[in-house]
Amino acid sequence: MAEYFELGELKTKAPKLFGIPTGTKLDEMFYKVEVSEDGKFVKKPLGGIPYLSIMNLTGVPDSGKSVLAEQFAVTQAGNGYKVLFVTVESPANFLYTALKQKSIALGVDFSKLEENIVVIDASQSEELRENPRALLDTMAYAIKEKKITNVIIDSITGLYEHREMMARQIVRQFFNFLKKWKQTGLFVSQKRSSQGSDTAEAAGGLAVAHIVDGTIVLDKKIIDNRWDVSLYGLPIGSVLRTIRIDGCRLCGHDSRTWVFEITEMGTIDIICPLHEFIKKMGKKE
Ligand SMILES: Nc1ncnc2c1ncn2[C@@H]1O[C@H](COP(=O)(O)OP(=O)(O)OP(=O)(O)O)[C@@H](O)[C@H]1O
Ligand SMILES: [Mg+2]
Repeated sequence: MAEYFELGELKTKAPKLFGIPTGTKLDEMFYKVEVSEDGKFVKKPLGGIPYLSIMNLTGVPDSGKSVLAEQFAVTQAGNGYKVLFVTVESPANFLYTALKQKSIALGVDFSKLEENIVVIDASQSEELRENPRALLDTMAYAIKEKKITNVIIDSITGLYEHREMMARQIVRQFFNFLKKWKQTGLFVSQKRSSQGSDTAEAAGGLAVAHIVDGTIVLDKKIIDNRWDVSLYGLPIGSVLRTIRIDGCRLCGHDSRTWVFEITEMGTIDIICPLHEFIKKMGKKE
């Protein structure tokens, strides 16, 4: 039995490096480096999160994790790919309404979403939330029957509530499962209030961040003092939202902090890097 590989043998098994679009500017923030005809290195945007990657999407409450996960689902389903959405927090009927609104905002025919998005509602089933085996079996069935290629779990944290010492084991199980089934995945993970809001840390410590292929951190800052008012050029009481790729094992990525907005229609609009935002807003004053 072969228990080791020569590197060359892995060639046929290695996944191709290309992007799975999220429908946001994140798609230009992952890249690969190629050598141009004149021998120079050039950065080429992947056009999405890396194919077959499992990304961790983390942030404080209300930072836009679900909004981003839903936009990814709508974009993929709109392109004709099957998405499995495991909803652990919000009941499935609420998800329906959120996706419907997003389809209008993003100009995606809703019938495509109805056809291409499959939902497992773990929010209403203690069995699915508390027993990973039961959920994995249900997911395997859906993936096989419906020819799923993308999986979203919102949130993975909800699968180890009250038992964070199990976080690593549970995240690892779901991670290996998605790898086995050749899925591109998003794990939404929630932060505890003691954790730095702009770090990759989430409930269960760094369990998710260490296991997955990469982390995207969303953050939300309330402008509540004079210093912030003059630094960001925003009125007191307003909200500044930021997004940052905190690491990716599979490819290069932009590592700056970017400013984004959640539009009235509930979509993510990534505007510009934070330092540019500060420069621009400072000039306006
Ligand atoms: N359809 C919408 N229209 C306008 N704003 C919206 C819409 N949907 C969400 N938002 C805004 O986006 C914010 C973030 O929502 P989201 O549910 O993505 O947070 P989250 O990070 O998933 O939070 P949690 O950890 O509590 O699940 C909401 O509080 C709301 O302000
Ligand atoms: Mg959420």
